[in-house]
Amino acid sequence: MKTYKEYILEADKKGIAMGHFNISNLEALHGIYNAAKKLGVPIIIGLSEGEEEFFGKNEAVAVVRALRARDNYPIFLNADHHYSFEAVKNSLDAGFDSAVIDLVKLPLEENIKITKQCVEYARELSKKENREILIEAELGFIGSSSKILDKIPDGVSEATMTTPEDAKHFVDETGIDLLAPSIGNVHGMVKSGNPRLHPERVKDIRKATGIPLVLHGGSGSMDEDFIACIKEGVDIVHINTEIRVAFTKALRKALNDSPEEITPYKYLPPAVDAVEKVVEARLKLFSGMK
Ligand code: 13P
Repeated sequence: MKTYKEYILEADKKGIAMGHFNISNLEALHGIYNAAKKLGVPIIIGLSEGEEEFFGKNEAVAVVRALRARDNYPIFLNADHHYSFEAVKNSLDAGFDSAVIDLVKLPLEENIKITKQCVEYARELSKKENREILIEAELGFIGSSSKILDKIPDGVSEATMTTPEDAKHFVDETGIDLLAPSIGNVHGMVKSGNPRLHPERVKDIRKATGIPLVLHGGSGSMDEDFIACIKEGVDIVHINTEIRVAFTKALRKALNDSPEEITPYKYLPPAVDAVEKVVEARLKLFSGMK
């Protein structure tokens, strides 16, 4: 099996992207993994601080490592949106393959200092444990909630998109492996429609930094925008809200349809299937299969 980084670089070379999907529970993981295996594409499972607390850090590592070993399958685990060095360190110590340090709310110099500390720690740990560990950081605010939104979050606008100059400075100073910029993307799905993405900004940032870019806030964006951004240097796309919506809607329907049913393995399968469908469609798009 190739390494995580090799899969990212392979996606880059082919002009496609890997899918990163967030989970809060095992059922969503089943749905995501079923879809990935059906298509035979590598997959990244993400847990934010809140998702990780609910699922359990060690539990998430144990399950993902067990699947990877049992099926010899490229499934990787990312500590998504962690807000301090300590939180990143704890997840990496537990065995996560990568982490996203998100300090966009701090002043830039403070952000650079702590991000660099995460990179140095990841390099040390990866040597000590003889495994590959990647550090990603976010630059530019894109909102923070994977939910249905009435409007575009305050503080997100074209004027606040990441500039190629800032991105280069940040990458040069920190030594991160992956950068998540603000290029028109927002976390969550805006009721009246998500803003358009800016592939030309992706191109400029990619050219300035030379490292793989990650598109956060994928839910609700248009297919043609994804394709254009992937072509210009996005190698990983994050999806969360679409999974939450699919899971919750299917579960709600199953419970409403059979109010007497109390057996989880009987009312949860439709929710697993709903997640699988969403993920399959997204993976096909990101992998250039349709
Ligand atoms: P969405 O909820 O908009 O899909 O964003 C997910 C995300 O970027 C997680 O890191």
